[in-house]
Amino acid sequence: MFTDSHCHLYSEYYNDLDSIIKLSNLNNVFRFINNGCDNATNKEVLELVKKYEFMYGAIGIHPENVKDYKVSDINFIKENIKEDRIIAIGEIGLDYHYTKENKNEQIKLFETQLEIAEEENIPVIIHSRDATLDTINTLKKYHVKGIIHSFSGSRETAEEYIKMGFLIGVNGVVTFKNTKLKEVIQDIPLDYIILETDSPYLTPEPYRGKQNNPSHIFDIAKYIAGLKNVSLEHLADITNANINKLFNLK
Ligand code: NI
Repeated sequence: MFTDSHCHLYSEYYNDLDSIIKLSNLNNVFRFINNGCDNATNKEVLELVKKYEFMYGAIGIHPENVKDYKVSDINFIKENIKEDRIIAIGEIGLDYHYTKENKNEQIKLFETQLEIAEEENIPVIIHSRDATLDTINTLKKYHVKGIIHSFSGSRETAEEYIKMGFLIGVNGVVTFKNTKLKEVIQDIPLDYIILETDSPYLTPEPYRGKQNNPSHIFDIAKYIAGLKNVSLEHLADITNANINKLFNLK
């Protein structure tokens, strides 16, 4: 039984979530951490975790929404962070892939949310794309722990994050051809690895091109079990234990 530690399950992407959950259960995926990225999806995440017993939620403002968020959206996060089964502030972070021009605004938004996490003593789920140095330097200013979602950096970067108290989220990218992530994952101890799909994005091989869903955790798990030369049962046990420890779950 596996956990999808990072997905975006909302009506914008899926018109029949019940069947997506059922399909995932049939593929041994029984737990989901649903990540919001703006005020509308944060609201939806709050509703969905009430509906599905095995769904947990993260609420936060994604760096791509730095131009559009309002102060009231931040207040909404503060007001709802203690709701049942809301376990993290996410998806938050820095993304310089398309532009670095709004770098200062991105860092400000990131810091605002890290402050809340520190105050409330709640983990964070981090998005970092082409922004490793600024991500590390910003995180170092706060006493927070959490997940580096969709990790795709070097072994040295992974080690740095691990030292800071973060788990490394691995998704379908590891199955892509021409990725150095395979070797990096081979070198990182399983105690720091967790599995995610980032659905509806980043569909693993051999399904690339189709919409992703959490049932593909099973394909990612098979791939990583092969890379690490461990059984699927062992991989499930250890990745679930990593998540339980971070979020204080059973
Ligand atoms: Ni995501």
